[in-house]
Amino acid sequence: MKPLLQMAERERASKRLTELREQIAYHNHRYYVLDDPEIADSEYDRLFRELEELEARYPDLATPDSPSRRIGSAPLEQFAPVRHTLPMLSLENAFDEGELFDFETRMRRFLNLAGPIRYYAEPKIDGLAVELVYENGLFTLGSTRGDGLVGENISANLGTIGNIPKQLPALPAASPPPRLEVRGEVCLTIAGFKALNRQRTAAGEPLFANPRNAAAGSLRQLDSAITAARPLEFFAYGVADPAPLGVASQQELLQRLAALGFKIIPNGRICADLTQVIDHFRHLGTLRHQLPYEIDGMVAKVDDLALQRRLGAKARTPRWAVAAKFPAVQATTRLLAVEFQVGRTGAITPVARLEPVQVGGVTVSRATLHNEDELRRKDLRIGDTVLVQRAGEVIPEVVKPVVEKRDGSQGEISLPGACPECGTPLVRKAGEAVTRCPNSRGCPAQRLRALIHFTGKAGLDIEGLGKKAMEQLAAADLVRDIPDIFRLRAEQLAALPGWGEKSAANAEAAINARKTVELARLLAALGIRHVGEVTAQLLARRFNSLAGLLQAEEHDFLDLEGIGPQAAAALTTYFADSANREMLRQLEEELGLKISAPPASTRAQPLHGEVFLFTGTLARGSRQEAKNRVKELGGQVATALNRKVTHLVCGQSPGSKLAKARELGVAILSEEEFEQLLARVGG
Ligand code: IVH
Repeated sequence: MKPLLQMAERERASKRLTELREQIAYHNHRYYVLDDPEIADSEYDRLFRELEELEARYPDLATPDSPSRRIGSAPLEQFAPVRHTLPMLSLENAFDEGELFDFETRMRRFLNLAGPIRYYAEPKIDGLAVELVYENGLFTLGSTRGDGLVGENISANLGTIGNIPKQLPALPAASPPPRLEVRGEVCLTIAGFKALNRQRTAAGEPLFANPRNAAAGSLRQLDSAITAARPLEFFAYGVADPAPLGVASQQELLQRLAALGFKIIPNGRICADLTQVIDHFRHLGTLRHQLPYEIDGMVAKVDDLALQRRLGAKARTPRWAVAAKFPAVQATTRLLAVEFQVGRTGAITPVARLEPVQVGGVTVSRATLHNEDELRRKDLRIGDTVLVQRAGEVIPEVVKPVVEKRDGSQGEISLPGACPECGTPLVRKAGEAVTRCPNSRGCPAQRLRALIHFTGKAGLDIEGLGKKAMEQLAAADLVRDIPDIFRLRAEQLAALPGWGEKSAANAEAAINARKTVELARLLAALGIRHVGEVTAQLLARRFNSLAGLLQAEEHDFLDLEGIGPQAAAALTTYFADSANREMLRQLEEELGLKISAPPASTRAQPLHGEVFLFTGTLARGSRQEAKNRVKELGGQVATALNRKVTHLVCGQSPGSKLAKARELGVAILSEEEFEQLLARVGG
């Protein structure tokens, strides 16, 4: 019989394993399916590590459905399932140098190999894994990784990403094989992420936690026009099966992908041995903050493809690659207080006031706690020592309290029942995570934030009327509502502290310059809930004028592709409100605001950056029509064959351009392939 102590330990391990499996499955769902994680990546990594360690110690307690044997989460139902011909694997993590050495030792043992191992090491981009299928050079299918075996068909959305080739060139020496499955990462630039969150703040929508979640959310749109409006990029890092390409190494494979028109990940290099891998990891650690997109580590891959093949894979990870993760930029400090901020739409956000602390080179003294549920889940107390991290390098957040440091002096945090600014009882709708102050017109905090939004970057972008200025103008009672902004005179401004005659005159000129405004911009500036820049553009294109919008009914909004029930309801309420109608009337009739109709085409531009040349007679329509369609989708049309041309479309009797295009490696499309391409990108 086993000693009692061991049995008790095993029992505890079994309980903990069940707990960990449940927790990880829950967090997988939030991360992979909902694009809305609740815990920091480093926290997740810790849970996963603990699971792996316990399973290694008690192999008989490991279950076949354990997250350690699975990748990601089941796909979303809205998108058609796509079975990957070869599974899309995940990567083993290494959190320090020792773990990189362990990785190499395991491979050596497996291969019975003593000599040096050459690696290809490149940044690990923090985005979303996708697979692109090319049949005879034509992009036919794009999918997410899903659970590694089955992903979601997001072809239409991927088709809108400018740097994803739609047609691969028939290179003289190396045409693409009949079927090619390219794998890589889609990401959003940090600037794109910030802009998107600004728009979402403006529309009163929940913010994305980091660029990765924003990229995932952008790709999982049912309306590709929304995806098209987001600055996404694709970086290729491999293919499902390199065999048909006839290349011998990871580096050659990437060179081939680059020759086929794919963007490969910059800053990759060949490393003669593990020491160079570690050097490169340190180098990337310093380069990291200068890159326009986020990387969360480095991936080191055995360069020799023959060795890769011999090494093969385990249940969820290949044996020939490892992810060396950067340590999270975290620090501990003290929680001094929790304040409750009132947002423009009345949303109450708990914000932690912290003893100032350096986190990754930036002093952090405030951090978001997201919402009440988050606050409760973290079980924080005033005076706690807390772990703070800069998530996605952008918004600092409190990860958790360091419970061991509690000494009994910590105090409870009380949640407000009434608005801290206007005293109105707060409300929380069933099913919503957000608590709000319902006093949208009377609450001074909401009014001020609405005015700041109106003159700010996501609104009319009036120079000189930034946040500070608007706070000052509101405090001086010069601006109470939107029309007041257009009543401001230079003399009034010049009389305020900190203003000179020049800055006052400039501000008045900037206000006047905005008296002619595009409808979409005005709509986005008004701060109607769920109406951000994209929705505002949809509305402007459909209704053309303010008068048109004022007459619209809820079903007119709902009929618009891209406008959901929440936005439709918010629009209906907004335009039915007599105070809002009166405000808009004043703007137009008394203050001389000229609202201009949208320009003819502001639609998605999936062919941006592509240059088409036509040759031969087209059977299905005129050449002019074909050219117009390309232009409508953001592409250019060339009149002669040159290096800029990316696609040659051949009708009947194509002539001499065809042979020359072949020489130049230009993608050659039949008329039918051209039609298919346009259909795929939404033309
Ligand atoms: S190679 C079988 N290279 O990291 C090897 N992956 O946890 C497959 N990732 O899902 C991955 N940058 O989406 C590789 N340079 C890179 C990468 C990379 C980001 C992602 C990838 C994968 C995840 C693995």
